[in-house]
Amino acid sequence: MSDIGDDGNRVLLLGAKPEDSLTALRDLGARVTCVATPRHAAALRKHGLVDRVLVVEDPMDAEQVLLGLARHGIGLDEFDVITSALEHGLVTAAVIGTSCGARCLPVPVAVLLRDKHAQKTALRRAGVPLARSAVFVQPEELTDAVAEVGGLPVVVKPPSGAGAQDTRALRTDDDVAVWQKEHGAGPWVCEEFVSGDELHLDGAVRDGKVVDVCVSRYFQNQITALDGALNGSVALQPAQDEARYTRARHLVQTTADTLGFTDGVFHLEAFEQADGSLVFGECAGRIAGGRIDRTVLLTRGIDLHRHWAASVLGAPAPARAEASDDDLFGWVTLNTPPGRVLSMPTLDEIRARKGVVDAELKLKVGSVMTRLQTTTTRAGRAVVRGTSAADVESVAADVAAWFQQAARSDTGS
Ligand SMILES: Nc1ncnc2c1ncn2[C@@H]1O[C@H](COP(=O)(O)OP(=O)(O)OP(=O)(O)O)[C@@H](O)[C@H]1O
Ligand SMILES: [Mg+2]
Repeated sequence: MSDIGDDGNRVLLLGAKPEDSLTALRDLGARVTCVATPRHAAALRKHGLVDRVLVVEDPMDAEQVLLGLARHGIGLDEFDVITSALEHGLVTAAVIGTSCGARCLPVPVAVLLRDKHAQKTALRRAGVPLARSAVFVQPEELTDAVAEVGGLPVVVKPPSGAGAQDTRALRTDDDVAVWQKEHGAGPWVCEEFVSGDELHLDGAVRDGKVVDVCVSRYFQNQITALDGALNGSVALQPAQDEARYTRARHLVQTTADTLGFTDGVFHLEAFEQADGSLVFGECAGRIAGGRIDRTVLLTRGIDLHRHWAASVLGAPAPARAEASDDDLFGWVTLNTPPGRVLSMPTLDEIRARKGVVDAELKLKVGSVMTRLQTTTTRAGRAVVRGTSAADVESVAADVAAWFQQAARSDTGS
């Protein structure tokens, strides 16, 4: 990927999210054509974040993008850069970018950042500790897959899913039988179950070097979020967690080297063992969900959106912003009971709670809180601060419990 000159900032962006990333692109002087869904296109036009909006049903679909461009008389030669900030857009952007010689992620790298089994196979070869995994298609083949990874317990999941959707831990033969009854053909991935606390490592890699990383710990391993466990994390300070940071940096650098991932942002999940060593979980080439972007910025001064935009354009990595020396920050999901929301605390009420730094609501009174299907199902989120990781977790637990109890839905409470 070559650096861009003054004129190299014409970007084709697949998908209209996250907004802060679009702002960061614009701040670096990019001229952005965004391929967006009808719903997101309206919001984009209102906020004036991009130069042109092209509407297709699914901006992650290469055919729809190419047909949409042709329909509007836009040639691929009008772009210096083709990219997406979204998990499901990485491969499409790489394929289209490669087809026209634009700056983009190399296709093999995008693929390894998306397919969990291919990623694990590459990293296993490089000697990174991680779960054994097997791919199967028909539910009845699960029994062989379980044997192949060394027996129960296992985790079964889609090979390129997100948000822990359709991800299940199976501990007994009964669990296996029930799973087989309830699920259809895959492909599916069956993995050896890894114990240990789940950490996430977020930052940027530039010219092949990990330039910034923030280590965080999920309050509860993400797989339990679907059962209603506290869903959020706390970002840790290197000064208080030196050994963890050293191990984390090593794991991220090895991962980036192995995947050939030289420029971009990462969100890597790993399981911490009793001796402190890390077992690799997975690595995404995008900004993490939740409000990890905020907690990473507040705790370490790392602006993931600016890092993303700089890596997309080939601009220098941003310097770290001023960050807190003492306090720690976390984020937490806020849920109402399932059903149509009759009432819930307002943003001002959430922000007035002790330890809450900021909050956002996704649902309004009258909209429906669904069952927890992914780790991103939510009524809202809060960003919280505390004096220690344990303090952050207790503030987060308090605000989540208070919100849930204060909210009313037409079923549930
Ligand atoms: N082999 C495993 N052993 C133990 N837990 C696992 C394993 N694989 C997945 N999990 C749990 O399931 C969660 C979701 O799995 P994974 O991260 O692979 O999928 P995902 O859908 O890409 O998640 P996300 O997009 O939220 O990062 C993990 O965060 C972890 O808590
Ligand atoms: Mg994950």
